[in-house]
Amino acid sequence: MRQKTCGEFWMRKTFGVLSLVLLFVSSLFAAEGLERPDVERWVDALLKQMTLEEKVGQLVQYSAGNATGPASEHLSFQELIAKGQLGSLLNVTGATETNALQRIAMEQSRLKIPLLFGLDVIHGYKTIFPVPLGMASTWDPQLVEQASRIAAQEASADGIRWTFSPMVDIARDARWGRIVEGAGEDPYLGQIMAAAYVHGYQGSSLSNHDSLAACAKHLAGYGAAEGGRDYNAADISERTLRQIYLPPFRSAVDSGAATVMSAFNPLNSVPASANPMTLSEILRHEWGFPGFVVSDWNAVAELIPQGVANDPATAAQKAILAGVDMDMESGLYRRSLVELVRSGSVPESVVDEAVRRVLRVKFALDLFDHPYVPAATPAPMLDATHVELARKVAEQSLVLLRNEELHGAPLLPISSNLRTIALLGPFADSASDMLGSWPGKGDAATVVTLKSALMQRMQKTGGQLLYAKGTDIDGTSDRGFQESVIAAQQSDLVVIALGESAASMTGEAASRAYLDLPGNQQKFLETIVAIGKPVVLVLFTGRPLALPWAAAHVSAIVEAWYPGIQAGPALARTLFGDVNFTGKLPVSVPRSVGQEPLYYNPPKPGRPAGNTDLSHPPRGEAEKYVSRYIDEQNSPLFPFGYGLSYTHFAYSAIKVSTASINVRTMNDKSDAIAVSATVTNNGARTGQEVVELYLGQRGTSVNLPMKELKGFKLLSLAPGQSQRVEFKVGYEELAFWNIEMRYLVEPAQVTVWIAPDSVEGPSAQFTITK
Ligand code: BGC
Repeated sequence: MRQKTCGEFWMRKTFGVLSLVLLFVSSLFAAEGLERPDVERWVDALLKQMTLEEKVGQLVQYSAGNATGPASEHLSFQELIAKGQLGSLLNVTGATETNALQRIAMEQSRLKIPLLFGLDVIHGYKTIFPVPLGMASTWDPQLVEQASRIAAQEASADGIRWTFSPMVDIARDARWGRIVEGAGEDPYLGQIMAAAYVHGYQGSSLSNHDSLAACAKHLAGYGAAEGGRDYNAADISERTLRQIYLPPFRSAVDSGAATVMSAFNPLNSVPASANPMTLSEILRHEWGFPGFVVSDWNAVAELIPQGVANDPATAAQKAILAGVDMDMESGLYRRSLVELVRSGSVPESVVDEAVRRVLRVKFALDLFDHPYVPAATPAPMLDATHVELARKVAEQSLVLLRNEELHGAPLLPISSNLRTIALLGPFADSASDMLGSWPGKGDAATVVTLKSALMQRMQKTGGQLLYAKGTDIDGTSDRGFQESVIAAQQSDLVVIALGESAASMTGEAASRAYLDLPGNQQKFLETIVAIGKPVVLVLFTGRPLALPWAAAHVSAIVEAWYPGIQAGPALARTLFGDVNFTGKLPVSVPRSVGQEPLYYNPPKPGRPAGNTDLSHPPRGEAEKYVSRYIDEQNSPLFPFGYGLSYTHFAYSAIKVSTASINVRTMNDKSDAIAVSATVTNNGARTGQEVVELYLGQRGTSVNLPMKELKGFKLLSLAPGQSQRVEFKVGYEELAFWNIEMRYLVEPAQVTVWIAPDSVEGPSAQFTITK
């Protein structure tokens, strides 16, 4: 391939032997970042060969498969590719399909610049893992990295070298449908997960042919859509933007993410896809991001309805000047950019810089030398090791929210001696829902549902599973209830699988104003619970739902999110106790929708409600003039970081290495405090515990949150076993954007918690002195 593509080019450029040396050198340094002197020289040389039309072509991307947004123009992609006027396609998959289009670029276009094929590979390609909110519930970056690596191996074998993942938007409002696509509400957990995805997709080097270029999206503030309504405006102070919303993007960029996607939404009244502050000042200049920015679907054209451009050319001009390098789907760069440059409205140097960024990524992916999927590539799809990992990740993503004692013992794990189990509800056998939103190329036929896994299990032990769907997800008819009631009456235990439709109630353009169980599922649940049998509620949702009745009346509740193709085996194994529950919530679970946005780390109010979590109207002054609702508690139903296990972990008092430390040593990073505690498994089973570190600071120039997650560790402990956990608390953990918008550590009183969640756990103090 080299002779025909890169080789021709090199001969034209007369670099001769030098070029071969550079190529050799470049392969030696393939694991390094995007910017390398050899690549820069090469990109510059190519740029000099390009006409303005060819340059603009590199900045144009269209969807050539199933549309993932509002339908747009119909074009002959073949013709554009042959003319060198298309840089990338999304939504085309398959070695044959991508190779055929690539062949046009490599054989018919003048400069033979390869196409880059992109797809939303969000939580797996064929082997579908839990949705990202579930992945975050594992609190296990290694697992997430491994899952993303597998996604990259499978997708690249089908011609894809670029995924529009990870979505690193912080989501503090459960009404927002896309909360399912990210790591939840916390910037620290978001940073850790962002890095894990990028490392997994991009592997040890982008030039490996099973690597995908990652894309951190959607810059910025998309998850802060007001009212949780998708595409709505976000108004975020610069401090909150930098402190809460940007850190996961920074983490992705620092981990080497090759691309970033600009968001749709207005951010502080400036559309995110025409926002020079986020796209240029911060991303490029402050963070030194060398990759390229792609707009979200049609976002360049949407600058017109957003009111900052009255015509397509102005929209294109604003987007490229702000820092959007590639235009996804709107066609406005294709139609306007050449003329904008010719008329002097956009300097050609701006276009050159955008093209340079795109070429850099294509080069890093080794597409010039290896543009095709080799025919001999063995398809790694759904390999047994992949499926096994899918099961493991699914197991660790399940969060046990409640497990009440019945007859002196917790209801779960289910005893293998039980003769008859009733399995009810619309999710018990819904394979497609298990795939979640953005199911890649996942196929419902590869899903093992809860019904088939439990059936198999009960057959093995000689027990009986009585299955009845009971009701539809969004149904109003009670006709199916009766069959379920009979099944429940005949059983020793009921497992009821309820939730939201993955495809239509979660993900993009699926915001909800109500956070309850859709249709008549609540009524169904109450009907079944009224029978009086022990009930295990398994929730399949893309967001935390507000289910206070269930939390008060159902003995055991498991939040399963959408666990992927191994949903059934993962659930069966945890419900029966073959494996322990280890997942913890990456989001706060509300009591009612009126609490949203609900998150554990807001700034502290001057009139806190104190320790009393009030749910009744104020009785007297002391209860009135405080930050509270008159008709709802402030606290979540289940807090961020929470999750039960079949064993119990005890936390010792915290040791702090010194009671005070000087602020200067913190800011010059020459010192840190060690905080430690001992965690003991004092239950009867082996278990894995996510040990969480929270910090709170007082006496600072700005109001910092009461608590902020700053670290976590996963421990695996046998019954009776103890382990000391130590965290370093230094500049990284304590610095913040102060009143002058400087990022530093200030003198403060610091409280530190080493805790099982964001509410419980022992605390200790230390002082940062002047
Ligand atoms: C979504 C992006 C996605 C893109 C391409 C858009 O509608 O907002 O997250 O990557 O489509 O499918």
